[in-house]
Formats: sequence, structure tokens, C-alpha cells
Amino acid sequence: MNEKSIRCQINGKTMERSVEVRRTLGDFLRHDCGMTGTHYGCEHGVCGACTVLLDGRTARSCLTLAVQVDGHEITTVEGLSAPDGTLSVLQQAFHECHALQCGFCTPGMLATLTELLADHADPSEAQIRDALTGNLCRCTGYQPIVEAAQLAARRLRATATPAHQEVN
Ligand code: FES
Ligand code: FES
Repeated sequence: MNEKSIRCQINGKTMERSVEVRRTLGDFLRHDCGMTGTHYGCEHGVCGACTVLLDGRTARSCLTLAVQVDGHEITTVEGLSAPDGTLSVLQQAFHECHALQCGFCTPGMLATLTELLADHADPSEAQIRDALTGNLCRCTGYQPIVEAAQLAARRLRATATPAHQEVN
């Protein structure tokens, strides 16, 4: 077996492992790190269920090799909430807007929308729908997911410190 040692940050914790060079990031997260919140749907880059954040940008964990994340930071759905379990603003909005049914697609949806909201404080509905084109949901419909993103954006804007008031 051809293995390589990797060291990365997963949800803020350093992880060092020897991994088979063919191992995907999704398999690494689920089977080697025990982080089963990341889901596999299609396993070939289409459904978006496996999406995680790699250095803050979305990445398909079914198409990314574990060895590629050596030296990088990964955020999975387990890392979106606070250590005490308090949901992120976006997760809370999903809960309140009933933006999931089975929840299978939800980890990927949350990763995609976390990236969108980091880039756009006030995304238009079209921008939200455009961001979600790479994430398929089989059961809940997209309207409540879009509404959750809009609610989270409003709440994040309401709590953001205006740039001119920031303390250096
Ligand atoms: Fe990765 Fe579907 S499982 S995109
Ligand atoms: Fe079931 Fe999206 S909530 S696939």
C-alpha cells in the first residue's frame, strides 16, 4: 500500500495521519477521523452532499484526495457550531425555516452557504440560488433553504460591527 503522512487542521484541531495516496478526503474524514457529518451521495462531484470548506473555500470531498489537504485547514459540518453545541447563525436559520427534511444534503448546503455569506453580506436571491446550483436536495425543496440563507444574512448583518467602528 502506498501511504503518505499528512498533517492538517480539521475544525481547529491538528490531525496527523498516514493515509493511502488514493484515499479521498471524504473517506479520510468519515473513516479515519470519525467525522461522519460529511455525506457521500453521488461520489463523482455532482450532488454536492460531500462539500466541505478547504481553507475557507468549498471543495468536493469525494473529488479531493486526503494527501492534497496536507498543510491545509478543513471545516466540516461538525466545526460550524460552537464547542458547546450552539448552532451557527446559518444552522439556526435552517432549523427555524425548516430548510431540511432528511438532512442528507444539509452538510454540503451549509458549507456552500457559509462560503457565500463570508463573501457576500447581503446576497440577492439570485446569488443564493446560483451558489446552490451545485448542491442537490431530493426532499425539502429549495425555497426554505433560500429563506434560511436570507434570514442568516440579515442576522449576520445586524450583528456585524461597522468597519468604521472596528477597534484595531
Ligand atoms: Fe461528492 Fe456527490 S458525493 S459531489
Ligand atoms: Fe433530504 Fe436535502 S433534506 S436531500
